[in-house]
Amino acid sequence: MDSDTHHRARWEKRYQDGKTGWDRGAPSPALTSALLGMPRPPARVLIPACGQGHEVISLAELGYHVTGIDFAPSALAALKRALSLNGLYAEILQQDLLSWDPGEPFDIIYEQTAICALEPTLWESYAERLHLWTKPSGFVFGLFMQTHREGGPPWHVSMSRLEELFPLQKWRWPEKPFPTVSHPSGLEEVFLTLQRHS
Ligand SMILES: C[S@@+](CC[C@H](N)C(=O)[O-])C[C@H]1O[C@@H](n2cnc3c(N)ncnc32)[C@H](O)[C@@H]1O
Repeated sequence: MDSDTHHRARWEKRYQDGKTGWDRGAPSPALTSALLGMPRPPARVLIPACGQGHEVISLAELGYHVTGIDFAPSALAALKRALSLNGLYAEILQQDLLSWDPGEPFDIIYEQTAICALEPTLWESYAERLHLWTKPSGFVFGLFMQTHREGGPPWHVSMSRLEELFPLQKWRWPEKPFPTVSHPSGLEEVFLTLQRHS
């Protein structure tokens, strides 16, 4: 098994075994504030590594055109069932974040515990993709896991690393202090709204 296949199989098994400690079972409390001052529905929103996608459902309910991608089939099957039960539609794609090409960029990307699931050696490539996938003047909302420890997942995504990955030449940063959100795992996420320069 190569390392990509192993990585994919490990996440899929977590869903099959119900070992999904990161999953709130509900949308993140950050979602409502994330949407303040944002493009309104039917703007296009991407949720990369959406997992079981509680935020996909909330955004679809609000009338956004939502695309959720993840490579774990069990997570996506649960999300599709929930969408169908609620009479909602979203585009749900089984894809790898590091090879997918959306064709058209998005107004908003909601990044929640996706980068912290990737090996740090992949972060630069992923951040470049987020830039490509965001329309000029579009937004990335990021909930970035703060573990303050070695190893992962979840990997610690430090502020200094975020400044390198999302440089001021490419992104407009919010004013400090940056809000934080507590995570069901007992950890904390920093919440940043980054706007792509036009
Ligand atoms: C910590 S979970 C977070 C899921 C979701 N964002 C949430 O908050 O519930 C990380 C997710 O990333 C997905 N994932 C990890 N690496 C991926 C990759 N290269 N391509 C697509 N999905 C990936 C896993 O399948 C898993 O659903």
